[in-house]
Amino acid sequence: MAFYYKEVSRTFSEYLLVPNLTRKDCIPSKVNLKTPIAKFRKDEQPPIEINIPFVSAIMQSVSDDNLAIALSKCGGLSFIFGSQPIEEQAEMVSRVKNFKAGFVVSNANLSPDQTLKDVVELKSKLGHATIAITEDGTLNTKLVGIVTSRDYRMSRDSLDRKIKEFMTPFSKLIVSSIHTSLKEANDIIWEHKLNCLPIIDDQQHLVYFVFRKDYEDHKENPLQLLDSEKRYMVGAGINTRDYKDRVPALVKAGVDVLCVDSSDGFSEWQAETIKYIKEEYKDTVKIGGGNVVDKEGFMYFVEAGADFVKVGIGGGSICITRETKGIGRGQASAVIEVAQARDDYFKETGIYIPICSDGGVVHDYHTVLALAMGADFIMMGRYFARFDESPAPKTKLGNNYVKEYWGEGSKRARNWERYDLGEGSNLKFEEGVDSYVPYAGKLKDNIDVTLSKIKSTMCSCGAISIKELQRVARITIVSSTSIVEGGAHDVILKENNY
Ligand code: IMP
Repeated sequence: MAFYYKEVSRTFSEYLLVPNLTRKDCIPSKVNLKTPIAKFRKDEQPPIEINIPFVSAIMQSVSDDNLAIALSKCGGLSFIFGSQPIEEQAEMVSRVKNFKAGFVVSNANLSPDQTLKDVVELKSKLGHATIAITEDGTLNTKLVGIVTSRDYRMSRDSLDRKIKEFMTPFSKLIVSSIHTSLKEANDIIWEHKLNCLPIIDDQQHLVYFVFRKDYEDHKENPLQLLDSEKRYMVGAGINTRDYKDRVPALVKAGVDVLCVDSSDGFSEWQAETIKYIKEEYKDTVKIGGGNVVDKEGFMYFVEAGADFVKVGIGGGSICITRETKGIGRGQASAVIEVAQARDDYFKETGIYIPICSDGGVVHDYHTVLALAMGADFIMMGRYFARFDESPAPKTKLGNNYVKEYWGEGSKRARNWERYDLGEGSNLKFEEGVDSYVPYAGKLKDNIDVTLSKIKSTMCSCGAISIKELQRVARITIVSSTSIVEGGAHDVILKENNY
């Protein structure tokens, strides 16, 4: 006979947090939202923590390099979508890793014998205005000069002109040594009125550039998520079919975290994929998997060696998995059960495996509930799709601006497979829709508001860290009539109230 769950399958909107005593030290400026995203042992430092508990969904309409940079700047992490050719995904990862976060590894390099035409082409391909000129056009040889748009005039110069004739030569450059701190680099930039400062080693090889603009950015974004080489951190989604080719390309591009992307991850294919990557890459890259909605699914990933486990089936805003396949579970019920399994496993073994609540966040307060219920971090699609930085087109619908937002299981997203995967990848029915979401402006402005709400709620609950919230939170189920009571009611709303 089939197994029947005793509890009803519930979602976030069916719960509320009940306030606790707010101590005097519970003020929003003291709340720390740092959270682990990869497995660690008791008494050890987590190998990777993010500074805010948000990651962006592995979706074409959400996570490209542009959004990844914006989110990493705010302290979160993006998983670049895997439903694209390997080289294109690796290129996106590489663009994030090379983006200017203080010290930048130059990826726009040419040699003195190349021409203005090469400069123009490289500039339009990579969008960088500063090009390093090295003896052989790679970073393995001496820096011999720099070209910026101040060095040539398109209207006057022939495209065949050799770079060595118009570059600013090394002898005229102000450079600094590899031991320079970002603060010192900034002082030099200001003192000499530079736009960029090359940082070189004792063989005159270019190690980094420091740009004037980046230092200001750095000061404005104290939570930005950087790796040990001060580059933005980035994740990427992979599948269980082409991972033997895809993962090497992503690792070469510098990816920090991988996640096997599937609506139902409780499968032998995922276990095989994770085991393979763990064996091949040991701990050089972290790998999570999902999605699961119960203890069995979680434990299966634990056995496979996953660094984190993603939770949620059927709760995504564009998701029709429950309607088409009749599988899934209310997001809150799923998170609560998996969090319990994670805590039990930690108690037994001293190994902590973070969990990510994926999908179904509609209101900002759902994120605090997810954290209070035990999620270490939260993946969102709809939330991020609304911002300027998402790759989805922005259009006007009636009088309002909207962004397009389509599910990975929709025909639109899966069209790319025509060009790539083979067996098992034919689309027989859709599990996601193509839709619009209200346009909401800049990512940073919106995240700032969401984070202030989270911090304020946490203070009401008497918590200044996520772990403390999980310990002290008191959560109640709400009746459908009390949900009505929770909104504005029995008043006539004036226009533009929200
Ligand atoms: P949202 O934040 O509620 O919009 O949910 C985003 C999540 O929905 C993603 O992170 C995926 O787990 C899931 N998802 C993305 N595309 C699809 C789809 O086409 N069908 C079902 N689930 C999807």
